[in-house]
Amino acid sequence: MADIDTANLVLVNEGKTLQQALFEQIRERILCGSWLAGARLPSTRALALELNVSRNTVIHTYDQLLAEGYLVSKAKSGFFVAVTPPDKFLTTIGSKSPASQGTNNSPNNGLFAPGVADFSQFPTKQWNRYLQRHVGRSSLLGTQDLQGLIALREALAAYLTSSRSVECCADQVIVTSGAQQSIAIALLVTQSASTTRPFLVESPGYKQVVKVLDLFNINYDYVTVSSVSGLDVDAVLSSSASGVYLTPSNQYPMGCSLNTDQRLQLIEWAKRGKRWIIEDDYDSEFQFDSRPFRSMQGLAAHASSADQVIYIGSTSKVMFNALRLGYMVVPKHLVARCLEVKDALSGDTPSQTQAALADFISEGGLVRHIRKMRRIYEAKFQVIKTKIKQRFSGDWVVVSQGAGLHITVEWRSKVDEVLFANQAEQRGVVVRPMRFYRPEQDKDIPQCEGRNGAIVLGFGNAAIDDIAPSINQLSILYYQLLNDLE
Ligand SMILES: Cc1ncc(COP(=O)(O)O)c(C=O)c1O
Repeated sequence: MADIDTANLVLVNEGKTLQQALFEQIRERILCGSWLAGARLPSTRALALELNVSRNTVIHTYDQLLAEGYLVSKAKSGFFVAVTPPDKFLTTIGSKSPASQGTNNSPNNGLFAPGVADFSQFPTKQWNRYLQRHVGRSSLLGTQDLQGLIALREALAAYLTSSRSVECCADQVIVTSGAQQSIAIALLVTQSASTTRPFLVESPGYKQVVKVLDLFNINYDYVTVSSVSGLDVDAVLSSSASGVYLTPSNQYPMGCSLNTDQRLQLIEWAKRGKRWIIEDDYDSEFQFDSRPFRSMQGLAAHASSADQVIYIGSTSKVMFNALRLGYMVVPKHLVARCLEVKDALSGDTPSQTQAALADFISEGGLVRHIRKMRRIYEAKFQVIKTKIKQRFSGDWVVVSQGAGLHITVEWRSKVDEVLFANQAEQRGVVVRPMRFYRPEQDKDIPQCEGRNGAIVLGFGNAAIDDIAPSINQLSILYYQLLNDLE
């Protein structure tokens, strides 16, 4: 079969990353039949040279096309158009255009959108093999254990014990459809509309928690997190609250962490007043600046106080968001009550993905993937941090630690963070203004000291080559808005 002539590929990247633009161009040619099944594409090096883009951009684009079934790769021969492009088949059956099936067309997944993992690096082929292993098992087709498949709970208990110093056995693990469901279960089990003592949530903080509190009419209050001093631990310790939701290892979104002493004080506070700590450990696998702190659950267990701690984790950051699998580790006396709530909310969790995940963890795939991603995210973190320093020379200050998939910056000027974020999105760059994470601002609670604007930039799913040009774009926009104010 002939080699493909790529001379007519033209990269128009208005509002898109180079990787996205290239992906769409190649996909379009395959879907409209101008590149025939079996034809060979140029090597990544040759195409990068031809288009004057980095080789990584082409490698990531080919990876995405491989993962979605548009290309196949043959050892020592190269990349070929797949015989049956999957989306073409879908397009014929349904009425959706290929564009409407795009992989990345939601602003939630756009460049710098926080909380999105690097999809291009996920070992899709390996994951498909695990799924294939289990789709044909008739024992997985009926209603399953509400608590989660035992194989997965055992794998998770072993993983959490070794990676996060969580102390638990499989009987305490409940598999859920993500941290969001775990948060809802934890709050419904420990709080109720008639609980008079408020429950505390971080501010700024993870908005999804407040949604549950509002939905179920649970009384709550905010505890401030500042870029200078982190969580106001004294405010928690002096409150009569019924419990607190915390992201202690990488506060979302400020990116600070609680040290061991603060953790121990909070555990003691919970134990003394029979209060609850809901620990959301959503991305602790990715710490670049320091060794991760031991989980609060593990620390509490060591001090015989784990009865007051509910530990929550998710696969959204270490794998991908759409998997919708998470877990919670709860004290033994809460398991039955949590299961009643889970039963009422959703029933059991899809079994085949659970079985695939159990194998992925127990055969070492997850830990290998995490190790690889830690290096990749750290490299992206260094690029974005350095570039921000270069382009903003102190006007933007990075306040978050080197961890996770996002970076948080503050500025002192009067540039409005919401206006800035809206205008950035029009230029194809998605950043989150801090106001998004501070719903209580409407209630006139003072802002963090010394800053006027702040935004959160997710670098997880940004191609490393797109980071520098996008920060350049953001700096042009920022200084334009600043000029307009003067
Ligand atoms: C603080 C926090 N917790 C948990 C999650 C993961 O939630 P889920 O497992 O529901 O995707 C996220 C995702 O962005 C998050 O930011």
